[in-house]
Amino acid sequence: MSEYNIEELTAIKGRQQQAWATGDFSRLAVKIILVSEQLCEAVDLHPGQKVLDVATGSGNTALAAARREADVTGVDYVEALVEQGRLRANTERLKITFQVGDAEDLRFPDASFDVVLSTFGAMFAPYQEKTAQELLRVCRPGGKIGMTNWTPDSVIGEMFKVISRYVPPPPNLKPPTLWGTEVGLRELFGNKISSLQITKRTFMFRFRSAEQWLDFHRTYFGPIMKVYEILDKDKQQRLSQDLLTLAGRYNRSGDTTVILPGDYLEVVAVKR
Ligand SMILES: C[S@@+](CC[C@H](N)C(=O)[O-])C[C@H]1O[C@@H](n2cnc3c(N)ncnc32)[C@H](O)[C@@H]1O
Repeated sequence: MSEYNIEELTAIKGRQQQAWATGDFSRLAVKIILVSEQLCEAVDLHPGQKVLDVATGSGNTALAAARREADVTGVDYVEALVEQGRLRANTERLKITFQVGDAEDLRFPDASFDVVLSTFGAMFAPYQEKTAQELLRVCRPGGKIGMTNWTPDSVIGEMFKVISRYVPPPPNLKPPTLWGTEVGLRELFGNKISSLQITKRTFMFRFRSAEQWLDFHRTYFGPIMKVYEILDKDKQQRLSQDLLTLAGRYNRSGDTTVILPGDYLEVVAVKR
């Protein structure tokens, strides 16, 4: 938003929180574990480092960091997802502290972590400047911030564009995929970082068919489920058609299955 209206941003965040709490994001999260594992390698985690995973969801990145012997805390504003993280950590006998919390208002003192991570999480908080400040604030000087962010022209960025034709986002709200551009990242981190390493990566989403891909999202992916909830039957059908067309456009399988390349930026910034 060009003119910040904090009340409006808070209302938007409340609606987003409801959307992420709808369905079961953990069903999608298990598909993208590789992204978290790679990010932990990209930041070159050292055993014993204090790590914060912001917008941890069901804990993908927190788990990946704990597997590398880091001391990990995971934070997300959806209680049910945080609980899933706890269960997964228990199953793997990993010691991770999970807390309910907001990426825009992290309840930790300044410089409390060596590494601050977020995989496709912090990018969705509506007050982007505040979120960037918080990631930087809780990271110690010389520490690293590691993120993965969908790019605007990725299949996920395009999916959000299709959805916004049916349910337009609030006017002037900056798109989450701004975090998936170098310009956006430099603007958000400003002069508070001493280096910025950006790697373009692609994650391959694999589904049995385009229909299964759509069905899966309509059953588990809260932000899409919420959109369908408010559309009438006719618009629901048109949205489904548009999403299937999108999947067809990106599909690289060459057969009846679906293999969608999801482009994202893997980001490693060093806090000044
Ligand atoms: C696409 S999921 C990614 C989850 C996880 N990082 C992963 O890689 O599986 C986005 C997550 O961001 C969380 N989220 C979005 N905005 C948030 C905010 N302002 N504070 C805390 N969590 C937030 C959602 O609840 C959701 O779990």
